[in-house]
Amino acid sequence: MRILFLGDIVGKPGRKVIAEKLDSLKKKYKTDIVVANGENAAGGFGITEKVYQELRELGIEVITSGNHIWDKKEIYQVIDQEDRLLRPLNYSPKAPGRGYGIFNVKGKNNIGIINLSGRVFMGPADCPFRVFDDVIESIRKITPVILVDFHAEATSEKRAFLHYADGRAAAILGTHTHISTADSQITPAGTAYITDVGMTGVQNSVLGVEPQAIISRFLTGLPQRFEVASGDGEIRGVFLEVNGEGQTEKMEVVKSQ
Ligand SMILES: [Fe+2]
Ligand SMILES: [Fe+2]
Repeated sequence: MRILFLGDIVGKPGRKVIAEKLDSLKKKYKTDIVVANGENAAGGFGITEKVYQELRELGIEVITSGNHIWDKKEIYQVIDQEDRLLRPLNYSPKAPGRGYGIFNVKGKNNIGIINLSGRVFMGPADCPFRVFDDVIESIRKITPVILVDFHAEATSEKRAFLHYADGRAAAILGTHTHISTADSQITPAGTAYITDVGMTGVQNSVLGVEPQAIISRFLTGLPQRFEVASGDGEIRGVFLEVNGEGQTEKMEVVKSQ
Protein backbone atom coordinates (compact mmCIF):
# COMPACT_ATOMS: atom_id res chain seq x y z
CA MET A 1 0.00 0.00 0.00
CA ARG A 2 1.28 3.43 -0.94
CA ILE A 3 0.53 5.93 1.80
CA LEU A 4 1.13 9.68 1.99
CA PHE A 5 0.91 11.19 5.48
CA LEU A 6 0.97 14.97 5.95
CA GLY A 7 1.94 16.80 9.14
CA ASP A 8 -0.36 19.20 11.01
CA ILE A 9 -2.19 21.43 8.53
CA VAL A 10 -2.11 24.98 9.91
CA GLY A 11 -4.86 27.39 8.86
CA LYS A 12 -5.66 28.71 5.42
CA PRO A 13 -2.07 28.71 4.09
CA GLY A 14 -1.88 25.00 4.98
CA ARG A 15 -5.15 24.23 3.20
CA LYS A 16 -4.17 26.38 0.22
CA VAL A 17 -0.89 24.56 -0.40
CA ILE A 18 -2.77 21.25 -0.23
CA ALA A 19 -5.24 22.54 -2.81
CA GLU A 20 -2.32 23.55 -5.03
CA LYS A 21 0.08 20.64 -4.58
CA LEU A 22 -1.66 17.51 -3.36
CA ASP A 23 -2.81 16.28 -6.77
CA SER A 24 0.70 16.33 -8.18
CA LEU A 25 2.09 14.60 -5.06
CA LYS A 26 -0.57 11.91 -5.38
CA LYS A 27 0.44 11.35 -8.99
CA LYS A 28 4.16 11.40 -8.22
CA TYR A 29 3.88 8.79 -5.46
CA LYS A 30 0.95 6.89 -7.02
CA THR A 31 -0.72 6.98 -3.61
CA ASP A 32 -3.46 4.63 -2.52
CA ILE A 33 -4.41 6.76 0.48
CA VAL A 34 -3.62 10.20 1.92
CA VAL A 35 -3.83 10.79 5.67
CA ALA A 36 -3.17 14.13 7.38
CA ASN A 37 -3.24 15.63 10.86
CA GLY A 38 -5.88 18.37 10.81
CA GLU A 39 -5.88 19.61 14.43
CA ASN A 40 -4.87 23.16 13.40
CA ALA A 41 -6.68 23.28 10.06
CA ALA A 42 -9.34 25.86 11.04
CA GLY A 43 -7.72 29.22 11.80
CA GLY A 44 -4.76 27.44 13.43
CA PHE A 45 -6.87 26.05 16.27
CA GLY A 46 -9.11 23.03 15.84
CA ILE A 47 -11.21 21.92 12.93
CA THR A 48 -14.77 22.67 11.85
CA GLU A 49 -17.23 20.54 9.90
CA LYS A 50 -16.73 22.82 6.87
CA VAL A 51 -12.94 22.57 6.98
CA TYR A 52 -13.12 18.80 7.50
CA GLN A 53 -15.29 18.50 4.38
CA GLU A 54 -12.94 20.80 2.48
CA LEU A 55 -9.94 18.60 3.34
CA ARG A 56 -11.85 15.47 2.37
CA GLU A 57 -12.75 17.04 -0.98
CA LEU A 58 -9.12 17.98 -1.53
CA GLY A 59 -8.30 14.27 -1.44
CA ILE A 60 -7.38 13.52 2.18
CA GLU A 61 -9.10 10.27 3.09
CA VAL A 62 -8.52 10.20 6.85
CA ILE A 63 -7.80 13.11 9.23
CA THR A 64 -6.06 12.61 12.56
CA SER A 65 -5.70 15.20 15.31
CA GLY A 66 -4.39 15.91 18.79
CA ASN A 67 -4.66 18.36 21.66
CA HIS A 68 -6.27 21.08 19.50
CA ILE A 69 -9.17 18.87 18.36
CA TRP A 70 -11.63 20.50 20.78
CA ASP A 71 -10.70 24.14 20.08
CA LYS A 72 -13.71 24.72 17.81
CA LYS A 73 -16.64 23.71 19.97
CA GLU A 74 -18.91 22.80 17.04
CA ILE A 75 -16.78 19.69 16.46
CA TYR A 76 -18.20 18.15 19.68
CA GLN A 77 -21.54 17.81 17.90
CA VAL A 78 -20.31 16.31 14.63
CA ILE A 79 -17.25 14.20 15.44
CA ASP A 80 -19.35 11.12 16.26
CA GLN A 81 -20.85 11.18 12.77
CA GLU A 82 -17.53 11.63 10.97
CA ASP A 83 -15.83 8.26 10.92
CA ARG A 84 -12.84 9.61 8.99
CA LEU A 85 -11.93 12.16 11.66
CA LEU A 86 -9.94 10.73 14.56
CA ARG A 87 -9.03 12.14 17.98
CA PRO A 88 -6.47 10.53 20.29
CA LEU A 89 -7.65 7.10 21.41
CA ASN A 90 -6.29 7.63 24.91
CA TYR A 91 -8.57 10.61 25.63
CA SER A 92 -11.45 9.96 28.01
CA PRO A 93 -13.79 7.22 26.79
CA LYS A 94 -16.55 9.69 27.75
CA ALA A 95 -15.31 12.19 25.14
CA PRO A 96 -17.02 12.14 21.74
CA GLY A 97 -15.32 10.77 18.66
CA ARG A 98 -13.12 7.76 18.02
CA GLY A 99 -9.41 7.13 18.27
CA TYR A 100 -8.88 4.56 15.57
CA GLY A 101 -10.51 3.23 12.47
CA ILE A 102 -10.12 0.55 9.83
CA PHE A 103 -10.53 1.93 6.35
CA ASN A 104 -10.89 0.15 3.05
CA VAL A 105 -8.50 1.46 0.44
CA LYS A 106 -9.68 1.47 -3.17
CA GLY A 107 -11.90 -1.57 -2.59
CA LYS A 108 -8.83 -3.73 -1.95
CA ASN A 109 -6.83 -3.79 1.27
CA ASN A 110 -7.65 -2.32 4.64
CA ILE A 111 -5.56 0.05 6.71
CA GLY A 112 -5.86 0.54 10.47
CA ILE A 113 -5.11 4.06 11.66
CA ILE A 114 -4.59 4.79 15.36
CA ASN A 115 -4.30 8.29 16.83
CA LEU A 116 -2.54 8.56 20.20
CA SER A 117 -1.48 11.46 22.40
CA GLY A 118 1.69 11.57 24.47
CA ARG A 119 1.49 12.54 28.16
CA VAL A 120 4.77 14.40 28.70
CA PHE A 121 4.17 18.20 28.54
CA MET A 122 0.66 17.44 27.21
CA GLY A 123 -2.88 17.57 28.61
CA PRO A 124 -4.35 14.67 30.58
CA ALA A 125 -4.68 11.38 28.75
CA ASP A 126 -4.64 7.69 29.57
CA CYS A 127 -1.42 5.72 29.02
CA PRO A 128 -0.84 5.56 25.24
CA PHE A 129 1.23 2.41 25.57
CA ARG A 130 -1.48 0.41 27.34
CA VAL A 131 -4.28 1.86 25.20
CA PHE A 132 -2.35 0.77 22.10
CA ASP A 133 -2.15 -2.75 23.56
CA ASP A 134 -5.90 -2.73 24.13
CA VAL A 135 -6.70 -2.40 20.41
CA ILE A 136 -3.73 -3.59 18.38
CA GLU A 137 -4.52 -7.32 18.31
CA SER A 138 -8.12 -6.84 17.25
CA ILE A 139 -7.00 -4.50 14.43
CA ARG A 140 -4.26 -6.92 13.32
CA LYS A 141 -6.90 -9.64 12.92
CA ILE A 142 -8.42 -7.50 10.18
CA THR A 143 -5.29 -5.95 8.66
CA PRO A 144 -1.55 -5.91 9.41
CA VAL A 145 -1.21 -2.52 7.69
CA ILE A 146 -1.38 -0.16 10.66
CA LEU A 147 -0.35 3.46 10.92
CA VAL A 148 -0.04 5.32 14.23
CA ASP A 149 -0.11 9.13 14.51
CA PHE A 150 1.68 9.64 17.83
CA HIS A 151 0.87 13.23 18.75
CA ALA A 152 3.38 14.20 21.40
CA GLU A 153 5.90 16.77 22.57
CA ALA A 154 8.73 14.73 24.07
CA THR A 155 11.20 12.96 21.81
CA SER A 156 11.88 10.43 24.58
CA GLU A 157 8.23 9.42 24.78
CA LYS A 158 8.00 9.10 21.00
CA ARG A 159 11.14 6.97 20.73
CA ALA A 160 10.14 4.81 23.69
CA PHE A 161 6.83 4.17 21.97
CA LEU A 162 8.64 3.18 18.78
CA HIS A 163 10.58 0.49 20.63
CA TYR A 164 7.47 -0.62 22.53
CA ALA A 165 5.37 -1.00 19.38
CA ASP A 166 8.17 -2.01 16.99
CA GLY A 167 6.97 -4.67 14.55
CA ARG A 168 3.34 -4.24 15.57
CA ALA A 169 2.64 -1.25 13.31
CA ALA A 170 3.80 -0.38 9.80
CA ALA A 171 4.49 3.20 10.83
CA ILE A 172 4.70 5.36 13.92
CA LEU A 173 4.68 8.97 12.82
CA GLY A 174 5.20 11.81 15.27
CA THR A 175 3.15 15.00 15.05
CA HIS A 176 2.47 18.05 17.28
CA THR A 177 5.79 19.91 17.40
CA HIS A 178 5.32 21.23 13.84
CA ILE A 179 9.06 20.89 13.22
CA SER A 180 10.24 18.11 10.95
CA THR A 181 13.06 15.98 12.35
CA ALA A 182 15.90 14.34 10.44
CA ASP A 183 15.61 10.89 12.02
CA SER A 184 13.31 8.99 9.66
CA GLN A 185 14.06 5.27 9.80
CA ILE A 186 12.67 1.83 9.14
CA THR A 187 13.45 -0.67 11.89
CA PRO A 188 14.57 -4.24 11.06
CA ALA A 189 11.03 -5.34 12.00
CA GLY A 190 9.61 -3.07 9.28
CA THR A 191 8.23 -0.20 11.34
CA ALA A 192 8.71 3.23 9.80
CA TYR A 193 9.36 6.02 12.28
CA ILE A 194 9.97 9.75 12.42
CA THR A 195 9.94 11.81 15.61
CA ASP A 196 8.03 14.60 13.90
CA VAL A 197 6.68 14.90 10.39
CA GLY A 198 6.56 18.70 10.66
CA MET A 199 3.68 20.94 9.62
CA THR A 200 1.88 21.85 6.45
CA GLY A 201 1.77 25.63 6.68
CA VAL A 202 3.92 28.75 6.65
CA GLN A 203 7.39 27.60 7.65
CA ASN A 204 8.76 31.13 8.15
CA SER A 205 6.79 31.58 11.38
CA VAL A 206 6.68 30.24 14.93
CA LEU A 207 5.05 26.83 14.38
CA GLY A 208 2.68 28.36 11.81
CA VAL A 209 1.75 31.36 13.95
CA GLU A 210 2.63 35.03 13.34
CA PRO A 211 5.83 35.54 15.40
CA GLN A 212 5.09 38.97 16.91
CA ALA A 213 2.44 37.84 19.41
CA ILE A 214 4.57 34.89 20.47
CA ILE A 215 7.60 37.13 21.01
CA SER A 216 5.41 39.44 23.11
CA ARG A 217 4.26 36.55 25.21
CA PHE A 218 7.83 35.49 25.89
CA LEU A 219 8.84 39.07 26.72
CA THR A 220 5.88 39.99 28.92
CA GLY A 221 4.40 36.67 30.09
CA LEU A 222 0.96 38.06 29.21
CA PRO A 223 -1.63 36.12 27.23
CA GLN A 224 -1.73 37.10 23.57
CA ARG A 225 -4.06 36.54 20.67
CA PHE A 226 -2.31 34.29 18.15
CA GLU A 227 -2.90 34.66 14.41
CA VAL A 228 -1.93 32.19 11.71
CA ALA A 229 1.15 33.47 9.86
CA SER A 230 0.56 34.87 6.41
CA GLY A 231 2.51 33.79 3.37
CA ASP A 232 2.91 30.71 1.24
CA GLY A 233 2.54 27.37 2.93
CA GLU A 234 4.71 24.31 2.37
CA ILE A 235 3.86 20.65 2.77
CA ARG A 236 5.75 18.41 5.18
CA GLY A 237 4.97 14.74 5.08
CA VAL A 238 6.20 11.21 4.55
CA PHE A 239 5.54 8.68 1.84
CA LEU A 240 5.43 5.00 2.82
CA GLU A 241 5.31 1.82 0.83
CA VAL A 242 3.95 -0.98 3.02
CA ASN A 243 3.83 -4.66 2.02
CA GLY A 244 1.01 -7.14 2.59
CA GLU A 245 2.54 -8.24 5.89
CA GLY A 246 2.34 -4.73 7.28
CA GLN A 247 6.05 -3.98 6.99
CA THR A 248 7.26 -0.73 5.51
CA GLU A 249 9.69 -1.32 2.67
CA LYS A 250 10.25 2.27 1.64
CA MET A 251 10.01 5.60 3.43
CA GLU A 252 10.64 9.00 1.95
CA VAL A 253 10.38 12.40 3.60
CA VAL A 254 8.21 14.71 1.49
CA LYS A 255 8.85 18.45 1.39
CA SER A 256 6.95 20.51 -1.10
CA GLN A 257 7.49 24.25 -1.41
FE1 LIG B 1 -0.46 20.88 15.71
FE1 LIG C 1 -0.81 19.40 18.88
